[in-house]
Amino acid sequence: MKEQLEAIRQKALNELENAASIQDIEAVRIKFLGKKGELTGILKQMGKLSAEERPVVGQLANVIRSEIEAKIEEDSKSIAQKLQAEKLKAEKIDVTLPGKAKVLGSRHPLTVVLDDIKDIFIGMGFDIVDGPEVEKDYYNFEALNIPKDHPARDTQDTFYINENIVLRTQTSPVQVRVMEKQQPPIRIISPGRVFRSDAVDATHSPLFHQIEGLVVDKGVSFADLKGTLEIFIKQLYGEDSVVRFRPHHFPFTEPSAEVDVQCFNCHGAGCPLCKGEGWIEILGCGMVHPKVLETCNIDPEVYSGFAFGLGLERIAMRRYNINDLRLFFENDVRFLKQFD
Ligand code: DAH
Repeated sequence: MKEQLEAIRQKALNELENAASIQDIEAVRIKFLGKKGELTGILKQMGKLSAEERPVVGQLANVIRSEIEAKIEEDSKSIAQKLQAEKLKAEKIDVTLPGKAKVLGSRHPLTVVLDDIKDIFIGMGFDIVDGPEVEKDYYNFEALNIPKDHPARDTQDTFYINENIVLRTQTSPVQVRVMEKQQPPIRIISPGRVFRSDAVDATHSPLFHQIEGLVVDKGVSFADLKGTLEIFIKQLYGEDSVVRFRPHHFPFTEPSAEVDVQCFNCHGAGCPLCKGEGWIEILGCGMVHPKVLETCNIDPEVYSGFAFGLGLERIAMRRYNINDLRLFFENDVRFLKQFD
């Protein structure tokens, strides 16, 4: 039995020598020291030994067990250390390398101008509302008193999804959506994207932005319209801006007007900036047509209102003296970073 024990010791120590991983070591432990292990098997047979032999063999078995356990411990430690060292090497970072600088972005020029416009109207008690860009023909045209044969519906201008659904060509449909849901008093602006089937050039884009405004209450008059828009324009362009209201036609307002500001470059004399006109058109506006109020279940005998719509790109182009609309949409960082 002693020889058997010696053989086990040799085999176990050999196998531990060759063990390359924690798993290998564990396998050796189970093979020799486990419940059904080889050393354990020998110990189970001790009963067959004589009384003199038993303590000698028992002691030897214990020595061998301790020896194997010590070797297991030692090898496990050195493997763990090796793994740790490999990990440290793999994860090594060179703290002397230059860091990756975070590039701070800036607001898009259209956002800068829009934020200013929002601030002005919020200051006058307006709420800001949103409307869908994919819109029903009903809201974009019909409810705004634009009948089926109106030239604004020409397929050249409008992207039709199908007969009843369009990409909105203006933000005016939001007026209808708001009035349908809410009885006066109403005081909102609604900025957003609009779409028209135009070829791209320096002043046209199939996608641009409008800001719609709507005020409905008892006793709202054209004087309120003029006062509100004059305050807006003076806050946007400066107190000394000169504003002009020019009669115009929109199907959803009556009477309607377009609003110009005197060219701040030539003060009305005419220059390349205003194309010799002396005035620059800023927005369209008017008193909400009684038919539109009625369509939205607002009694035109009790309530009246005004509405306006302005183009964001135009205002931004003027503010920053930008001569090509395409610059807003090309997302060239060299252009964009100049504004905020
Ligand atoms: N939706 C008009 C357009 O795209 C702009 C406009 C004009 C809006 C007059 C209005 C308005 O609310 O009253 O040309």
